[in-house]
Amino acid sequence: MTDSTIENLLHEERRFAPPNSFKSQANLNDPRIYERGKDPEKFWAEQAENFEWFEKWNQVLDWNPPWAKWFVGGKLNITVNCLDRHLKTWRRNKAAFIWEGEPGDQRVLTYGDLHREVCRLANGLKNLGVQKGDRVTIYLGMIPELPIAMLACARIGAAHSVVFGGFSPDSLRERINDSQSKVVITADGGWRGGKIIPLKHNVDEALPGCPSVKSVVVVRRIGHAGPGKIKEGRDFWWHDLIDEVSSKCEPEVMDSEDLLYILYTSGTTGKPKGIAHTTAGYLVGTAMSHKWIFDIKDEDVYWCTADIGWVTGHSYIVYGPLANGTTGVMYEGAPAYPEKDRFWEMIEKYSVSIFYTAPTAIRTFMRWGSEHIEKHDLSSLRLLGSVGEPINPEAWIWYHENIGKGSCPIVDTWWQTETGMILISPLPGITTTKPGSATFPLPGIEPDVVDESGKSVPLGSGGYLVLRAPWPSMLRTIYGDPERYREVYWSKFPGLYFTGDGCKRDEDGYYWLLGRVDDIMLVAGHNISTTEVESALVDHHDVAEAAVVGKTHDVKGQAIDAFVTLKLSIKATEALRQELREHVAKKIGALARPDEIYFTAELPKTRSGKIMRRLLRDIAEGQTLGDVSTLADPSVIESLKAQYEEGGA
Ligand code: WT7
Repeated sequence: MTDSTIENLLHEERRFAPPNSFKSQANLNDPRIYERGKDPEKFWAEQAENFEWFEKWNQVLDWNPPWAKWFVGGKLNITVNCLDRHLKTWRRNKAAFIWEGEPGDQRVLTYGDLHREVCRLANGLKNLGVQKGDRVTIYLGMIPELPIAMLACARIGAAHSVVFGGFSPDSLRERINDSQSKVVITADGGWRGGKIIPLKHNVDEALPGCPSVKSVVVVRRIGHAGPGKIKEGRDFWWHDLIDEVSSKCEPEVMDSEDLLYILYTSGTTGKPKGIAHTTAGYLVGTAMSHKWIFDIKDEDVYWCTADIGWVTGHSYIVYGPLANGTTGVMYEGAPAYPEKDRFWEMIEKYSVSIFYTAPTAIRTFMRWGSEHIEKHDLSSLRLLGSVGEPINPEAWIWYHENIGKGSCPIVDTWWQTETGMILISPLPGITTTKPGSATFPLPGIEPDVVDESGKSVPLGSGGYLVLRAPWPSMLRTIYGDPERYREVYWSKFPGLYFTGDGCKRDEDGYYWLLGRVDDIMLVAGHNISTTEVESALVDHHDVAEAAVVGKTHDVKGQAIDAFVTLKLSIKATEALRQELREHVAKKIGALARPDEIYFTAELPKTRSGKIMRRLLRDIAEGQTLGDVSTLADPSVIESLKAQYEEGGA
């Protein structure tokens, strides 16, 4: 951004107050919680009292910017809080995970089961020589062994580094080497869309370049069909490793600030950053936010559809929910397998009450049409969540009406791998929502929207989203590269954490996330966010999804190009293209009217489902394409490019 503020384009008049029936039963329904958050240290210390400590902290916060320590001097083990604590109560035999494999196989693990499995693997890892302070890379699909492996590491004080199962051998090697892992845990394969992901094969490809790795643990998931071969002396079957070990394992005593895990974020360019999260603050932040935002009760069945390979899965499938004694649904495979109603079928089957997914998934469901949804009874649902990208207001409304049947509050949760926990979100028993806005910061969290010079901008304008104060589950550093940590997050505005996101606050103080600042366009001297133009396009009833980029223009500086995916039943015509251009002009002004609109069946997305505007920009500028290694499906970009060169259509 060259100018200080982003234009205020879209106006949203719709309001959704929490229904009385929801409010009256909610964990939080008293807005005075925000008052209590105004003394963050006192507030977070009160929250920390909810957990089990071997030794209490003697100082809540040691803040030496950009270095934070929370609950200084405290001793604990996160698995005691996620598991052992529940075994002393009736939750011992409560389901922790209800898991369903893609082919339809099922497994239910109670808290007691999970505790035993975690202890057994922890003992197995010890037998492989894993010690407190070591790193272990976990490269698995969405099977119960994935959370078991994470917790087994935490039990014995080893940091885990989960690498998403969709990553290539090269990406895996880079991450193993950066973390200097001693052990890799994988499977002979995983199921996705009816196909086998060759996990063990990829590990075998990666490992010749990984001198730190001494052993590989292999889960048998696929059986004889699996391509994995066991290398004597290096590879161990998971079931052999835990065969004769004890199902008890004393938890390692960890310091509040001991490393819990590393999780790599690729961003769009550069070497992946190993985001480092520590023990106590992460536990307190994820557990409390999960309880408040998702209104978690003992009788809930909670389903977060993310992959545990991303931070959403770490914080809101594994640590937060287990700390709260939640029953969680876990699913291995693809949403369209074997049919496009798989998710709705599972919600009905398990009576899911809280459902948390991403805008990219919601827009895909919109595109598929409502017939898949109408086949199933979704009346068990009482709360819906969204995460990962700004949710376009029309996608929000669609979600509210078609999945929530008009009666479930929606929590649009803003956060990052780096923040560890949700920082901006409605509290569903308190907040009146506006579709497309993540609403307000959680109690105890202090964001701000600032201009180029770091000065707060008034309500009604846009700028850079920053955080003014540390929070318990913030990243502590980039693993092995503290200088990069300072440079990436703390150098643009000294003393402030820079999120990299654009944001505006409306007159009522609601936060509207506008996407990454690198994506903001400058059209005839006006800063325009891609998010708002995309939302105007998705507002049209024929459009399922849109990606907008700015390309160089002689007169305007930048002009807007849009890539649009239509709903499955709609035909792309020249008349529709003109109609869409006018629709945007009418919704938000002539300034934002796209010069060109390209219809496309797919948009290029990262493996975590975010639209890669940078590649679309390269196409629009007619440039050679930059790094495509983070694309989920590289063929998408090739067909788009071919289409563009033909001049659209
Ligand atoms: C970036 C972080 C947070 C877990 C999943 C992604 C975007 C995330 C929202 C939201 C608008 C959002 C931001 C953020 N983002 N949630 N509710 N509204 N934007 O984690 O891969 O670290 O990505 O995702 O741009 O900076 P991540």
